[in-house]
Amino acid sequence: DKDGYPHFMLKEINEQSRVIRDSLVGRLRNESVDLSEELKWSNEEIRKWNRIHIVACGTSYYAALIAERLFENVTEWDIRVDVASEYRYRELNSGPETLAIFVSQSGETADTLAAERKAKISGACCLAVTNVPNSTLAREVDHVLLLKAGPEVGVAATKTFTGQLCVLYLLALYLGRVSGTLPDSKQKRLVQELRVLPFKVDTILEDHLLIRGLAEKYANARNFLFLGRGNSFPVALEGALKLKEISYIHAEAYAAGEMKHGPIALLDHDVPVVVLIPRDHLYDKVLSNIQEARARSAPIIAVATSGDQHIIPNAEDILWIPPSEPELNPFLEVIPLQLFAYYVARYKGCDIDQPRNLAKSVTVE
Ligand code: G6P
Repeated sequence: DKDGYPHFMLKEINEQSRVIRDSLVGRLRNESVDLSEELKWSNEEIRKWNRIHIVACGTSYYAALIAERLFENVTEWDIRVDVASEYRYRELNSGPETLAIFVSQSGETADTLAAERKAKISGACCLAVTNVPNSTLAREVDHVLLLKAGPEVGVAATKTFTGQLCVLYLLALYLGRVSGTLPDSKQKRLVQELRVLPFKVDTILEDHLLIRGLAEKYANARNFLFLGRGNSFPVALEGALKLKEISYIHAEAYAAGEMKHGPIALLDHDVPVVVLIPRDHLYDKVLSNIQEARARSAPIIAVATSGDQHIIPNAEDILWIPPSEPELNPFLEVIPLQLFAYYVARYKGCDIDQPRNLAKSVTVE
């Protein structure tokens, strides 16, 4: 049931504030995260670990890359994130001192299942982050954290990305607290911010007509570059993936600081550059990347924080997100990028919910 929306994807994009709210239910106690009902880990078990592996494919992999940055911020374990199709064939150190987290919306992706089996044989503690409670992955792992996103029909993942981010953030905050590396004050600040996040997501969704107008303006471009730094870099990867998946436009994402090592050669007035430039500690660095792109005549579409006057003369077009704690910016940045991809694809008459050559769940290698 599309609930009055023309496509499942648009319906699912609009469900994201609800997904965030639901993912917090029963997982917060006062101002801290408590997952002890779902994860029966003793302190002894947690103390045994010295590394965390996070493994996934596609959009789930990008959620994992964002979470990686929070894990390294709030815990002291070594974190490694990999795509399952690589992880399954690598010679990695893994064993009882490893917590291996497998992120899969469907819980049926063949590469992710193979990676999980490999980790399990090594003796790692295996945890699934999935939307499907009775999936193969959920049945095979030692522990499960469920998304509360509800079924996702559109092939391009949207609300499950947000759900995965929520669950991975809660896990990072929980592990940071129980292992004593995350100060209470920081935990409190991030939990308070998680609680207000749904309202901020809704304000972006209300801007959909503006985003639609912009999408139509740029829909005939043949190539896009997406740039970001820090935790916005994986959001750039996800924004480019959304655009190519459903509109078939070539879109590449780069860590903004890497632009000078190649992609800058492609820039001219025909290549729009979508730049994620939230107000965070990397703002000035990203601004100088914008200036480098503008010097090659590339039109800049900035995703920036409301109230940032400085960005106005530096971009052709701006998609605004509300101010937030920097750790949570990815939740907000991804929404305009999903809507942008959606409206470009709609303008071009593409089959949005079932793009060519793609499957919702890839059960073969
Ligand atoms: C397919 C889907 C993507 C998804 C990926 C991983 O490629 O089209 O939307 O991100 O599989 O799926 P999973 O179910 O493991 O998260």
